[in-house]
Amino acid sequence: MSIEAILKERHSVRAFIDKPVPIETLKNIFSSAQLSPSNCNVQPWQTCVVSGQTKEQLQSKFIEILMSGAVPNPDFNWAAQYAGIHRERQFGSANALYSSVAIAREDKKARQMAMVRNWQFFDAPHAIFFTMDKYLDIMGAVDLGIYAQTLSLIMAEHGISNCMQGALGQFPDPVRKILNLPDERGILFGMSFGYADESAAVNKTRTDRETLDNAVAFFS
Ligand SMILES: Cc1cc2nc3c(=O)[nH]c(=O)nc-3n(C[C@H](O)[C@H](O)[C@H](O)COP(=O)(O)O)c2cc1C
Repeated sequence: MSIEAILKERHSVRAFIDKPVPIETLKNIFSSAQLSPSNCNVQPWQTCVVSGQTKEQLQSKFIEILMSGAVPNPDFNWAAQYAGIHRERQFGSANALYSSVAIAREDKKARQMAMVRNWQFFDAPHAIFFTMDKYLDIMGAVDLGIYAQTLSLIMAEHGISNCMQGALGQFPDPVRKILNLPDERGILFGMSFGYADESAAVNKTRTDRETLDNAVAFFS
């Protein structure tokens, strides 16, 4: 499948079937993603793939934290309040998601419950925490973003779907503890992945994109 064809078909998936990805496939995918470029080839990603009991332990801890009413304390600056056109697009993607599962705009409770699905990894068999040394800040974040998209495209080639999740970077402390990561390691964001549940309404969510003219300027 060409990259262009993958890009045209790819979309975030938020419901998965109960079928783990074979370990050999996982190793192939993550080996290929090692070929991602990075600034000065520093390869800042320290990727943590969680499955089975470790994933369940993290999920339980996340739910406990959410129930306690804890406020997110991300390692990196995720506090940006979108404004103007960015806010409009943010609303657009939220509406696409909630209307796919027939949640009304004013139904705050249902929206919150849908949000909680993030920390249940959308029932995916596997999840990733993209981590890097905290001091790397924006330099590392650029590289991790490129790495994550590379990973996503390779996954698609293997018929594996995913959803990238800023939500998985919101409560980094229990992740650091359960995965035994050093204090200097930051959790930037995450991704749930596996085989898509094609029958799930949430996976019918589609978002649009800006026109080329409004996004790209060609200078000559
Ligand atoms: C860095 C990043 C963080 C994201 N965080 C979340 C998240 O926490 N929860 C979620 O459901 N989707 C999340 N998404 C998915 C976006 O909402 C999605 O990519 C966007 O709406 C475009 O839709 P598409 O991926 O289906 O094309 C994230 C995507 C990226 C790239």
